[in-house]
Amino acid sequence: MRLNWLRHSLLGMGLAIAAAQPVHAADKVLERGNYLLNGIVACGNCHTPKGPDGKAIPGQDLAGGTVIEVPVFRAVAPNITPDRETGIGSWTDAQIITSIREGKRPDGSIIGPPMPIEMYRDLSDSDAKALVAALRAVKPVANKTEKSTYKIPLPPAYGPPVGRVADVSPQNQVRYGGYLASIGHCLECHTPDDKGRLIMTRLGGGGRMLPSFPSGVVMSANLTPGNPDGVAHWSSAQFKTTMRTGIRPDGRALVRTMAFDWYKSINDSDLNALLAYLRTLKPIKN
Ligand code: HEC
Ligand code: HEC
Repeated sequence: MRLNWLRHSLLGMGLAIAAAQPVHAADKVLERGNYLLNGIVACGNCHTPKGPDGKAIPGQDLAGGTVIEVPVFRAVAPNITPDRETGIGSWTDAQIITSIREGKRPDGSIIGPPMPIEMYRDLSDSDAKALVAALRAVKPVANKTEKSTYKIPLPPAYGPPVGRVADVSPQNQVRYGGYLASIGHCLECHTPDDKGRLIMTRLGGGGRMLPSFPSGVVMSANLTPGNPDGVAHWSSAQFKTTMRTGIRPDGRALVRTMAFDWYKSINDSDLNALLAYLRTLKPIKN
């Protein structure tokens, strides 16, 4: 009798653990996804509409409509909320991951710039799944956005299929910082370009002209140790303050092209990793 009870309760506990585990794992995945989406990855810096003050419009997370205009294109960030009609609610997880890492929609068409697809190719499988979980948890908003127009041809693909991408261990601080710099596409903006193609020999060297806010253009900064006044020579505390507030150590407010409102939730260890990586960039004089 007693033994039977024990067996039953153990069985019951086993089932309870088995049932609880996937829920727990799913919570962790969503937590990671939200951390990335609302922090370093900051899809919303392009996909969330902003008001005249440059701040994200409340209740419109990822609803699209932001126009990014340069001489060779007029790109409109689409609605990527889970709305089934006007957003990406009807796409499968795999289709969403392909759109992010390979720049290909379910209908086979290519997503144009400035979405930093080439940087997103590095996004690990588990982080990609976490991002999808977070995207699905966003409030669906019905908002049909206009189509982008490009005066340049879009590539047939951004590269071969991505396949599997392993996680980078945070234990290796510099490599992990490099990974964060990819998924945060820091060097997309901070590397000079020649007609839209990044000049990889000048990685992180700055000097790229980017749309400013609310209008005009702004030149990105040289993040390499070759800039004597630059971030590679700042203290970790100075770097964190700048990334979270948009105010440089000398007190100058940076143009809000960067996603400071998202970056403020990046944790200390990730910011330390980013800085450790930036300090290893090849010094470039600019
Ligand atoms: C620098 C700005 C920028 C960033 C950052 C960005 N996107 Fe985009 N995204 C765009 C633009 C612009 C388009 C439309 C391009 C076009 O019309 O071909 C687009 C298109 C898309 C599409 C295709 C949607 C459709 O209905 O056609 C998806 C999905 C998408 N982005 C998801 C994301 C996700 C997820 C992230 C973050 C991981 C992200 N984007 C980051 C600018 C950006
Ligand atoms: C959408 C483009 C864009 C992205 C993405 C971006 N930056 Fe920037 N960043 C800029 C621009 C433009 C400036 C210069 C703004 C100004 O001078 O007012 C800047 C300035 C900075 C500065 C100040 C440097 C100085 O010497 O004044 C730092 C530090 C920095 N970025 C680091 C980063 C890091 C780290 C990332 C990735 C997490 C990142 N940026 C992503 C566009 C970008």
